[in-house]
Amino acid sequence: MKFDNRDQTKNKIWSDLQKLSSDAHKINILDLFKSQKNRAQTMSAKSEGIFFDFSKHLITPEILNTLLAFADSIDLKHKIDDMFDGKPINKSENRAVLHTALRADQNKEHTPEVANKFQDINHQSQKIKMFSEEIRSGKWLGLTNRAITDIVNIGIGGSDLGPRMACKALKAFANGGVRAHFVSNVDGTDIRDTISELDPETTLIIISSKTFTTTETLMNAKIAINWLETSLDTTGVESTNHIIGITANTENAIRFGIKASNILNFSNWVGGRYSIWSSIGLSIAIYIGFDNFDQMLKGARLIDHHFRETSFSKNIPIVMALIGFWYNNFLNAQSHAVIPYCERLSLLPSYIQQLDMESNGKSVSQSGEKISYQTGPVIWGQTGTNGQHAFFQLLHQGTKLIPIDFIAPVKQSNSYKDNQEVLLNNMLAQSMALMIGRKEPKTQSYKNYSGNKPSSTILIDELSPKNLGALIAIYEHKTLVQGIIWGINSFDQWGVELGKELSVALGEDLDLEVDESTAQLKSIIAEIRSL
Ligand code: F6P
Repeated sequence: MKFDNRDQTKNKIWSDLQKLSSDAHKINILDLFKSQKNRAQTMSAKSEGIFFDFSKHLITPEILNTLLAFADSIDLKHKIDDMFDGKPINKSENRAVLHTALRADQNKEHTPEVANKFQDINHQSQKIKMFSEEIRSGKWLGLTNRAITDIVNIGIGGSDLGPRMACKALKAFANGGVRAHFVSNVDGTDIRDTISELDPETTLIIISSKTFTTTETLMNAKIAINWLETSLDTTGVESTNHIIGITANTENAIRFGIKASNILNFSNWVGGRYSIWSSIGLSIAIYIGFDNFDQMLKGARLIDHHFRETSFSKNIPIVMALIGFWYNNFLNAQSHAVIPYCERLSLLPSYIQQLDMESNGKSVSQSGEKISYQTGPVIWGQTGTNGQHAFFQLLHQGTKLIPIDFIAPVKQSNSYKDNQEVLLNNMLAQSMALMIGRKEPKTQSYKNYSGNKPSSTILIDELSPKNLGALIAIYEHKTLVQGIIWGINSFDQWGVELGKELSVALGEDLDLEVDESTAQLKSIIAEIRSL
């Protein structure tokens, strides 16, 4: 019988996992390799271009089987299907979650809820293709009839992190074409530092905002428009070819002054942090070319198939989610580190941070009840080897349990082969050292490494658009599965609203009752300003 209780802790298998966790302190990962034949092979999985090793974990075969049984007991398969089939799983906003439709194989069978989106998806995709090709080929001209050399994507959160991360990751595919810049912070130095280096005659501003109401984005957009108007000695620049708007709220973009033909649309059923596959990906398509952008979608599609068709025990996103669930809910881990051994993936931790923390930082269930267990962990990280010389000390000898994802492309496009060799050896050395530890004599206990620290390793053949798409989709689906396990809505983000409202109220100096600390800070700010 499938378990469909709102309180996941009432599931018998939850209690089984709890019992198993009471003996977890006895688990030694190295011993598991001795007792379990072919553990590395058994506890690894692959999908085209991606190899996932999850053998270095505090997980016995019994624990793994129990986690898999848990997944089965909550009817995971059908709940995953609900998303792909376009059911309204985002209950607080009563809408479907269909970023997967943007990359779906349209020749396969789909529910009407999905199939009836294809016409619109194809229309938008055609526009991304047309715009990106015109801009890249030099046909798209600015006010002084010069071709575009630089694009500036102005957006924040999901309207920034994805394109920014992907453009950095896929720089090798840009072939020296149009340069891509990104502005997100309302701190004016961000936009100032960016535009101050650009030629307004050859700059295209892309205003990306799902809602087209986000203060940071609209303020920065207005500064950029003003800069263009002043430098080009003109007015009404928002309705020229120097400005493109990308939004799910076309009316707002038109009201802002952008001409309708320069607006790319996407739908409300695409969450901001899942919008990289939509028109929001325009800057990626301009930077690396539409065909490469399409390859990203292909990589994600391959993972969608892997996710829906592979048995749970070899299913990369599902296993990743279950491992995280084990540490988060039974071994009290508070955070999870993402460490790419690849400079081009340096923005991946921030991207996954928004994806995961905005999705699963929730404390009520889908039906509104307060949850009694831990939900999403703190996601953090940065590139290796830099991290080794910064925070790895704590990972090796600190007191906290922090599971890690090590991620590395095996082949890199740069020509420094020795560096790549050292980079990969460093990654392998770290996951090994964390696991094996080192015993020193008692007199030198400060040198002691306890070891037994868990990590996964994700090897990517090479950092291609297809493999990047696959990697992102893996993390998207991991996030979905954990949200299902915790019975929460991974697709809303009401927790960001209060801060936005208070910020407006503080700015307008409304009759706002302000606490003592904030009042003091306000008066110090006023004092410093008046000097
Ligand atoms: O404030 C959070 C958020 O709503 C994110 O979910 C979103 O990605 C970001 O703001 C930007 O929103 P928009 O694309 O509507 O400008």
